[in-house]
Amino acid sequence: MTSRYYEAYKSWQTDPEEFWADAAKEIDWYKPWDKVFDPDAGVYGHWFAGAECNTCYNCLDRHVEAGRGNQAAIVYDSPVTGSQKTYTYAEALDEVATLAGVLTEMGVGKGDRVIVYMPMIPEAAFAMLACARIGAVHSVVFGGFAAKELATRIDDARPVVMLCASCGVEPGRIVAYKPLLDEAIEIASHKPKSCLVFQRDMERATMVEGRDLNWAEETTRVRAANGQADCVPVAATDPLYVLYTSGTTGVPKGVVRDNGGHMVALKWTMFNMYGVKPGEAFWTASDVGWVVGHSYIVYAPLLHGSTTILFEGKPIGTPDAGVFWRVIEEHDVVALFTAPTAFRAIKKEDPGGKLIGKYDLSKFRTLFLAGERSDPDTLEWAEAKLGVPVIDHWWQTETGWTIAGNPVGLGILPVKHGSPTVALPGWDLRVVDEHAVEIPAGEMGAIVVKMPLPPGALPTLWQNDERFTESYLSAFPGFFETSDAGFQDEDGYIYIMARTDDIINVAGHRLSTGGMEEVLASHPDVAECAVLGIADKLKGQVPIGLIVLSTGVNRDPGEIEAETVKLVRDKIGPVAAFKTALTVVRLPKTRSGKILRGTIAKIADGEEYKMPATIDDPVVLDEITEVLKARGIAE
Ligand code: COA
Ligand code: AMP
Repeated sequence: MTSRYYEAYKSWQTDPEEFWADAAKEIDWYKPWDKVFDPDAGVYGHWFAGAECNTCYNCLDRHVEAGRGNQAAIVYDSPVTGSQKTYTYAEALDEVATLAGVLTEMGVGKGDRVIVYMPMIPEAAFAMLACARIGAVHSVVFGGFAAKELATRIDDARPVVMLCASCGVEPGRIVAYKPLLDEAIEIASHKPKSCLVFQRDMERATMVEGRDLNWAEETTRVRAANGQADCVPVAATDPLYVLYTSGTTGVPKGVVRDNGGHMVALKWTMFNMYGVKPGEAFWTASDVGWVVGHSYIVYAPLLHGSTTILFEGKPIGTPDAGVFWRVIEEHDVVALFTAPTAFRAIKKEDPGGKLIGKYDLSKFRTLFLAGERSDPDTLEWAEAKLGVPVIDHWWQTETGWTIAGNPVGLGILPVKHGSPTVALPGWDLRVVDEHAVEIPAGEMGAIVVKMPLPPGALPTLWQNDERFTESYLSAFPGFFETSDAGFQDEDGYIYIMARTDDIINVAGHRLSTGGMEEVLASHPDVAECAVLGIADKLKGQVPIGLIVLSTGVNRDPGEIEAETVKLVRDKIGPVAAFKTALTVVRLPKTRSGKILRGTIAKIADGEEYKMPATIDDPVVLDEITEVLKARGIAE
């Protein structure tokens, strides 16, 4: 079949407004838009200005009204607790409307923020949808973040209410969430009015008198009283959620997602990008705390009337490297979306793919990978062992959906390993030099997007238009700076090679090395530090920290290193995977005092490097090499 991709891209280029107005027919609106795109609204314009809609209605109610009530909406599969539960569209609607009733009673109204700090249980999805139902703005915080990170988000989002579960279940340990929530509220200057706590049997949380309410008791009471809440119409341009993501400092960026454009874009991708039809099962093995989880565990599959799998487990060890194939067989999954790191983990455990043969994967059609660069080795292994197309696609928290991908529904284009393929309709990509001048095919440059961004991408940062403009729109006027670098080949295929800022990608999780440096620098014995990402076979990258001790410190450096490792875990969280700190006498710097992090990373990775012309003292690099070698990091 020839792909309809080029035709679709051309039709978007010819008339973007008509293209998106056409896609918007797939969504139910209370009131149509006055303008498909209003360039004068917001920082750079708003999609579907004047329209009114409700995201929860489009995810649940309309499917029940259309006769999908008995179809599975959410399948919860939890190998870590040994449990499974399926919610039909009708059941999910009841759960969500009831929870929305509880939230309303707790004083949550349109525009109010609600922070959700929960593990991968169906209640996390219900929480998001319940907020959407009443026009409240949710902000989900990933469970692997520590109390201080949660507190930073509380102070920025200023939630009326917080929703949490007593605990999460990681292989081999229970992670008590509630004490972290209590500590975060203690640290934060803003105090939410109340918290709704979902008690899990593995670990019951201690409740704070007068502030905390029990989830099960409240929903039971509201259900008995028929207190379910109806959908509240909101402006298409109203925020649906704020999702914090790492920026270049320790202060995360609150990425805003609106209601209307988000629905239109996500619904469009379900068939055109993923090739999935309503009624089919789509599985995203990620976490609701990440953008991938927001878009493709919760919103997109439900907008489309598909069945979504909510998986509480890991690709290996729960119980083995065959769990992905078991879930695919058991729930008739047609497409799986995960991060390459999951496949690296599976490949390491089961290199011959023996466990794959134990399961019936006849319904499985496509594997999608994103979140980090797909290394060709892993991709080829997956292709060979699974016998289905493996599709790399590139996107970011900011964009909410694919910037570049191989659109399966439009017809797969030839796969080139190492490339997420081509820009999807909506995205006018350019590879440019520092003066925003386009550079020839095959040459590395900054990847930018010609403004305006398409529906679904962020309109701004939460209550911070200024930071939005400064972070994304100022470096290349007229373009959105993705902070990814790479090149385009003669066929227009894009290759994403590196970040241009200090963000690193650890097991598909985006982390700021600047944020980790702030934590290391807060240790009383540390005078100076540098955190950088080095290559890791499983996680892609892992952070290491180099510390210079303050003059006069006479303690065992090993002890101080261990304290700094603990400090990052306590302040940022286990997700940072910060396990290595190294004491050095001094850091390599340029004559103007810039630390040469990139050069250190190259030494650690055993890559060739050029002596930076501006280096202050080249001997320092020899000293660093010795320290890295002594710790088995460099060879
Ligand atoms: N709550 C609390 N702690 C959590 C957590 C959560 N929701 N999620 C992860 N953690 C902890 C882990 O237990 C681990 O702690 P440890 O240092 O005590 O071992 C730490 O955070 C790092 O977690 P992770 O990066 O997930 O590493 P891992 O070794 O547990 O697992 C993989 C490695 C590759 C199996 C796992 O990262 C994975 O499945 N990744 C692919 C899917 C994915 O989530 N992609 C993200 C975006 S698409
Ligand atoms: P996040 O905002 O957490 O989704 O992380 C976004 C970043 O992950 C991007 O800016 C890229 O650096 C990286 N990334 C995501 N998908 C890909 C991909 N398919 N190939 C290469 N890098 C990717």
